[in-house]
Amino acid sequence: MAEHATARSLHGKVVLVTGASRGIGAAAAKRLAQSGASLVINYHHNREAAEKVLREIEDSSGRGMVFQADVTRKEQVEAMVRAAREKLGAVDVLVNNAYFPFEVGQLHELSWENFHRAVEHELAAFHHCVQACLPGMKEKKAGRIIVVSTRLAQQPLAKMGAYAAAKSALESMADTMAIELGPLGIAVNVVTPAFTLTDASMIMPEAFRERVKETRPLKKHLYPEDVAGTIAFLAGDEASMLTGSHILITGGSHLQL
Ligand SMILES: NC(=O)c1ccc[n+]([C@@H]2O[C@H](COP(=O)([O-])OP(=O)(O)OC[C@H]3O[C@@H](n4cnc5c(N)ncnc54)[C@H](OP(=O)(O)O)[C@@H]3O)[C@@H](O)[C@H]2O)c1
Repeated sequence: MAEHATARSLHGKVVLVTGASRGIGAAAAKRLAQSGASLVINYHHNREAAEKVLREIEDSSGRGMVFQADVTRKEQVEAMVRAAREKLGAVDVLVNNAYFPFEVGQLHELSWENFHRAVEHELAAFHHCVQACLPGMKEKKAGRIIVVSTRLAQQPLAKMGAYAAAKSALESMADTMAIELGPLGIAVNVVTPAFTLTDASMIMPEAFRERVKETRPLKKHLYPEDVAGTIAFLAGDEASMLTGSHILITGGSHLQL
């Protein structure tokens, strides 16, 4: 039996989480720090929230840094990964998580510009982050890329088409990269959460949130921490033979009509 069966911590690993000031990204950053990783906490506007995440990590004897970057902008992503390398070391694990607001509406009613923006933000951010992190991962002949998608990519919902199309394309990119980067020792996996209680999901009315909970076999809300655990698993040694995997985090809702 290979030694990977033993749980080892992420001590000595550098993890970059995009959009880590709030929601799933913040929970993932804190959970990964508990496993010993040094964290790059990326944020866009909300410096105070990002610093609060860092303080919580440091209060638990963890290590990290915050970095403001719009991840849809290549030069800002490059500056972030350079700064991370100087302060903490080359990125070992990329968690592609940032959430980009999109126009809610029927596909045929959206302007092309708004539809295009949703898709472009999602795909550009992923492309830039992977390109910036790859040189370091190639040097180490190892790396993990974890993509946060959504169940809506496979299970559409009216008026969420721009988001679903963007995430479907994101999943397709992740799968191709799993094939292309596998020989370099780099694994690419996807987590697909269902509706999770965060700032982003507050665009849905309370009645919707309660209905989602009631139609789930597990009859519970999904919280950022529920997704963070799976992300930590994918970053760790127990997942060493996973690549191109898509892990559903739904409380069973994918089984329901
Ligand atoms: N919530 C759900 O129901 C749900 C379900 C399935 C999948 N997901 C996915 O989970 C991921 C996280 O979503 P969430 O619900 O946790 O979102 P959230 O609570 O709204 O947090 C969004 C995060 O993204 C950051 N961000 C936004 N634009 C950015 C940019 N251009 N560059 C860098 N960072 C940016 C925000 O930074 P600031 O704080 O600085 O603005 C914040 O940290 C997303 O990929 C989303 O699609 C969410």
